[in-house]
Amino acid sequence: MEPIKVGLLGFGTVGSGTFTVLRRNQEEIRRRAGRGIEVTRIAVRNPAKALAALGDAAGSVALTDDFAALVDDPTLDIVAEMMGGTSLARELVLRAIANGKHIVTANKALLAVHGNEIFEAAHAKGVMVAFEAAVAGGIPIIKALREGLSANRIQYIAGIINGTTNYILSEMRDRGLDFATALEAAQALGYAEADPTFDIEGVDAAHKVTIMSAIAFGVPVQFERAYIEGISDLDAIDIRYAEELGYRIKLLGITRRTAEGIELRVHPTLIPEKRLIANVEGAMNAVVVHGDAVGTTLYYGKGAGAEPTASSVVADLVDVTRLHTADPEHRVPHLAFQPDRLSSTPILPIEEISSSYYLRLRVADVAGVLASITRILADAGISIDALLQKESEQVDDHGKGETDLIVLTHETREKHINAAIRTLEALTTVVSKVTRLRMEALN
Ligand code: HSE
Repeated sequence: MEPIKVGLLGFGTVGSGTFTVLRRNQEEIRRRAGRGIEVTRIAVRNPAKALAALGDAAGSVALTDDFAALVDDPTLDIVAEMMGGTSLARELVLRAIANGKHIVTANKALLAVHGNEIFEAAHAKGVMVAFEAAVAGGIPIIKALREGLSANRIQYIAGIINGTTNYILSEMRDRGLDFATALEAAQALGYAEADPTFDIEGVDAAHKVTIMSAIAFGVPVQFERAYIEGISDLDAIDIRYAEELGYRIKLLGITRRTAEGIELRVHPTLIPEKRLIANVEGAMNAVVVHGDAVGTTLYYGKGAGAEPTASSVVADLVDVTRLHTADPEHRVPHLAFQPDRLSSTPILPIEEISSSYYLRLRVADVAGVLASITRILADAGISIDALLQKESEQVDDHGKGETDLIVLTHETREKHINAAIRTLEALTTVVSKVTRLRMEALN
């Protein structure tokens, strides 16, 4: 049988990694897919640069800087979108779908923001949009959620799904670095982008957890409702105190089913150090999924990089090759649930979520301060799980000592802890803003 023909939009890290893996493993891939998979055309802004990168493979591929011509090419069966961004990528993907082409993409921002429109267009046209590489790079988490766990009512997902921030947090904990120095180290190693805002402010992780949430609970993608808090304000001292209390701080993407709705949030989170996921270090990714039948499962691997991401892209190319002649109604639905059976369960505002909390208060070291703080928490119905008092070297303007007081609470509503914090901050003995971090037991 003729090989299936693929056009690549973009030839950066992921595009060139895909090309390399496809060529290197072409015999194995052919045996798996039932026919060959060939990249025959690549669209890039700078074809001369791509030509040099293709080396001795250059003769087998047509290079162009005309992206629209590629998606209009009638000889192509699949368009693999590896260019990133949400504007031109959306336009080209929709045009390729209108031309009857299947799509493989690694673009989490595109799907988190425009996924509903793209999946609807693909469904109407009877083509597939495959996106394993969009979440957690080489970890086959989409396959696991959409197919492997389809017996389950999924309860929650919690993932370290941004390698850059996990590397920064690991360096802050291991080497006692502050955030800015750890970020510089990440940039020097090429983990963080030159403009690392999407990574460190949690936006990249929010794109990924938005996609997982839709698949886990059968709801439309709703990036605009995700709560997003990054790690740029995280203080090294909280990483140290958390460690003394038996916790690690990780940037988690969390989505959870509750009686009132779905939680969808990204923020730094304390997790008990004995959990496997708490020990995921450096740029690695890991995702915990809890289903009612299977219990807790954990998926671990490289979340970025040329070949780990290509591993997922090529797996999608194999899936599309196997399934493109199947009746569209019998394919796996894009969001795991049949498109006409998506649910309107609301995404909860952050004030309505329930969590345990870590509070750090800088207080005047005077009699009665602890009593007034515990009274405020008790009046708000917030139960204390643990307390730690650490002498500070700071003294106030009158030469009196100050102390860091760390309070771990049992579970409460976010709006209740926020109200209690406002009351605490009004105390004259609480001398600076209260630091509040969320905690997850993940048990
Ligand atoms: N910038 C991402 C990360 C990789 O640091 O994990 C691609 O999603």
